[in-house]
Amino acid sequence: MLASGVCHSDLHVRDGEWDRPTPIVMGHEGAGIVEAVGPGVESPRVGEMVALAWLIPCGVCRSCRRGRTWECPDSPSYRHTLLDGETAFRGVRSYCAIATMAEASVVPADAAIPLPEGVDPGAAALIGCCVTTGVGAVMKTAAVPAGSTVAVIGLGGVGLSCVMGAVVAGASRIVAIDRVPAKLDAARGVGATDTLLADGDATSTVAALRDMTDGGPDFVFEAIGRPSTVELAIAALPVGGTAVLVGMTPVGERAAFEVYPFVDGARRIIGSNYGSAEPAIDFPRYAGWVLDGRLPVDSLIDRRIGLDDVEDAFQQMREGRFVRQVIEF
Ligand code: APR
Ligand code: ZN
Repeated sequence: MLASGVCHSDLHVRDGEWDRPTPIVMGHEGAGIVEAVGPGVESPRVGEMVALAWLIPCGVCRSCRRGRTWECPDSPSYRHTLLDGETAFRGVRSYCAIATMAEASVVPADAAIPLPEGVDPGAAALIGCCVTTGVGAVMKTAAVPAGSTVAVIGLGGVGLSCVMGAVVAGASRIVAIDRVPAKLDAARGVGATDTLLADGDATSTVAALRDMTDGGPDFVFEAIGRPSTVELAIAALPVGGTAVLVGMTPVGERAAFEVYPFVDGARRIIGSNYGSAEPAIDFPRYAGWVLDGRLPVDSLIDRRIGLDDVEDAFQQMREGRFVRQVIEF
């Protein structure tokens, strides 16, 4: 392993908000160099740098048969084992079958996607989760048309990747929203046209957002995973607008919205998992955009740490500090 991002999904598990089997080696956003491959594996090759995909399709379920592999509910990734039920760590589970918070791991060959030369390992790691999740939510799941107005609520690695995706998609206005002022600066740095500090009063946030976007943004991306901000995303929609839910809540949480105007105004809500990723196609594509400067992923990484610092990294994340902390090995 060369690098592993620290993602909020790891924190959900760390804090018991998502029930996962233990003991488990965490981490699902990583990149490394292939040291060895099993029999019959043609790609990747030994010596290649790969980004790791955290969702390996089962290949046989209804979603996989339709080619919508990002929806696969039977993925071995969700059992946190390799395809044969084993793990790299003898009895200890391997988070999403890749366990990137480790100096070395054993992963399914399909999870290891070779990237073009010259991509920084930290950026490669982020392509494995937050970049693909955010850029894909905008460009693939929602397929935002050029000229649209967009708002993004929550400006961590996932939300800022939504902002970057909206730039590439040609959005005319991109309003970035967070409760931490430093995150607004980060959003401007990656192409947000406007920013809004969410001070806890949803009514005034919605009113300000409507003012900035001629009555409400065509697309609102929720990249936090809190019922209150999911409700905010839906409440801000203009007639014909779409809320795209990207953030994952603690299991069991519910959100509410008023049905009549939602239906009357032909509004939409879409869930986006892993940015509708097809890693073998999308990872090299996003890496190309990193290399040509269209996706300034390097600027998301504002703290590089060692593996021993991971508990501190989680605490910083709880307090809303840093955009993306990356463990380097
Ligand atoms: N209002 C506005 N902003 C908020 C609020 C709030 N009530 N609560 C949190 N935020 C902001 C934080 O300040 C932070 O900038 O949301 C951002 C969340 O960023 P991270 O914690 O870095 O999370 P990230 O890794 O980007 O993941 C976001 O996507 O995949 C899911 O599980 C993941 O639910 C998580 C979400
Ligand atoms: Zn993640």
